[in-house]
Amino acid sequence: MSKILIIYSSTDGQTKLICERIKKKSAHESEIKVISIEDAENENISAYKNLIIGASIRYGKHSKKVYKFISKNKHILESQNTSFFSVNVVARKFEKNTPDTNPYIQRFLKIANWKPSLLAVFAGKIDYQKYRFFDKQIIRFIMFLTKGPTDTSGVYEFTDWESVDAYTETFDRSCI
Ligand SMILES: Cc1cc2nc3c(=O)[nH]c(=O)nc-3n(C[C@H](O)[C@H](O)[C@H](O)COP(=O)(O)O)c2cc1C
Repeated sequence: MSKILIIYSSTDGQTKLICERIKKKSAHESEIKVISIEDAENENISAYKNLIIGASIRYGKHSKKVYKFISKNKHILESQNTSFFSVNVVARKFEKNTPDTNPYIQRFLKIANWKPSLLAVFAGKIDYQKYRFFDKQIIRFIMFLTKGPTDTSGVYEFTDWESVDAYTETFDRSCI
């Protein structure tokens, strides 16, 4: 039985990629299972002593599925060693790249009413070519307002992989 469960809520794949990186770099790699929030419905969560949830932001929000999962499994989560991280592009800004300064983490804590042992926030990725017309225009406008890249032919990965690896080491040390 796996010792650590990593659950991702991801639309375009960056949060999933971060979860896979955590598994790959972890000292407990062979004991880690990575699944989507959709598949988490059918997983026996209580079989894991350690659990990470990673969720991305879309139009200011984490998926409702994440909150539903937490609310349904709150008792189990409170008996485990847990962590939550958010993936968003606001976190590319130095002044918004910690759990204390990132607005989405702060909102998450209020809505979820759950305090995991370890919190983190990672900057995500902008891949204009992948987006539908409407999304592309909105993201481009937000990038313009926040002095980010507006050339829609580009792919911009803001994820700081060293910070993901440092988080993995911290989580590894907390595992029970
Ligand atoms: C339609 C759309 C809306 C987004 N809205 C926000 C937002 O409100 N705030 C933010 O910081 N990032 C926003 N992002 C950036 C995503 O959080 C970023 O692309 C992240 O890497 C997505 O993770 P995923 O690939 O796991 O879905 C948005 C991205 C898209 C495509």
